[in-house]
Amino acid sequence: MNLGISDKVAVIAAASRGLGRAVALRLAHEGAKIAICARDNAELQKTAQEIRQTAKTDVLALAADLTQAHEIKNFIAQTIAHFKKIDILVTNAGGPLPGKFFDFDDTAWESTFQLTFLSVVRLCREVIPQMQQQEWGRIIHIASTSVKQPIDNLILSNALRLAVIGLAKSLAHEIAPYGITMNTVCPGMIRTQRLEQLLQVGAQMQQISFDEALQQRTAQIPLGRLGRPEELADLIAFLASENARYITGTVIQADGGLVKGVF
Ligand SMILES: NC(=O)c1ccc[n+]([C@@H]2O[C@H](COP(=O)([O-])OP(=O)(O)OC[C@H]3O[C@@H](n4cnc5c(N)ncnc54)[C@H](OP(=O)(O)O)[C@@H]3O)[C@@H](O)[C@H]2O)c1
Repeated sequence: MNLGISDKVAVIAAASRGLGRAVALRLAHEGAKIAICARDNAELQKTAQEIRQTAKTDVLALAADLTQAHEIKNFIAQTIAHFKKIDILVTNAGGPLPGKFFDFDDTAWESTFQLTFLSVVRLCREVIPQMQQQEWGRIIHIASTSVKQPIDNLILSNALRLAVIGLAKSLAHEIAPYGITMNTVCPGMIRTQRLEQLLQVGAQMQQISFDEALQQRTAQIPLGRLGRPEELADLIAFLASENARYITGTVIQADGGLVKGVF
């Protein structure tokens, strides 16, 4: 399928590794020009160079901390200055800390609010006016299956990611008249550094090995294996495409069947 995005500019937040990196690579291979950010500049520049070499496209990579309003503002301003427009925005950030209710004080809740929710608000605020002018845009938020089925020991994610869903549903309606769509994707268990860290924490809590924890978690997935970052990237690439023009306000998981609920 020709996704029709070869002349588009795509911003992918938090993309030096893991899911964001896979999305950036996928969109770059479709011909899109790419802007990415992360905090560790060395790792970010390595990823940018890899995308340039394999996809032969223009990649702008700027170090930015998504918990800082002025760094988001600067990232988007520099992207517009460089590419003159933004067509696709993929919001993403590092994951909330694992833990249960009494593990966290107000400071932890507030900093997760900045990372998980306000980063999405701020990215949208900077990017949408430009999409409105050009009357075309695709915005995709990376959330988690925790918005459909809470995950044990991840109370910060379970609580605060739902705010992103409420925001996205409301905002999708506001921006639809401008030809901008907004959808949320929910990765299940996709093998990245973050997932491996969470599995390690789970293994320690249960006093079992990493491999045993991996086996236990995999047994919960009807398709019988962890996902690969490219498999989430395939879904996002479709939602970013011309073909997805009539899909907005949805919340869709890529989880191998992990979520057992109907909706
Ligand atoms: N993998 C899964 O199975 C899964 C499932 C559900 C939800 N998710 C969610 O999807 C998101 C991405 O997960 P992942 O598995 O790709 O994680 P990952 O492998 O740990 O990668 C996280 C990326 O985000 C960047 N990042 C982290 N904090 C940042 C910040 N404050 N500002 C800018 N960039 C930041 C990291 O670079 P720096 O550290 O250099 O900043 C890195 O590039 C997370 O929110 C995670 O909770 C993942």
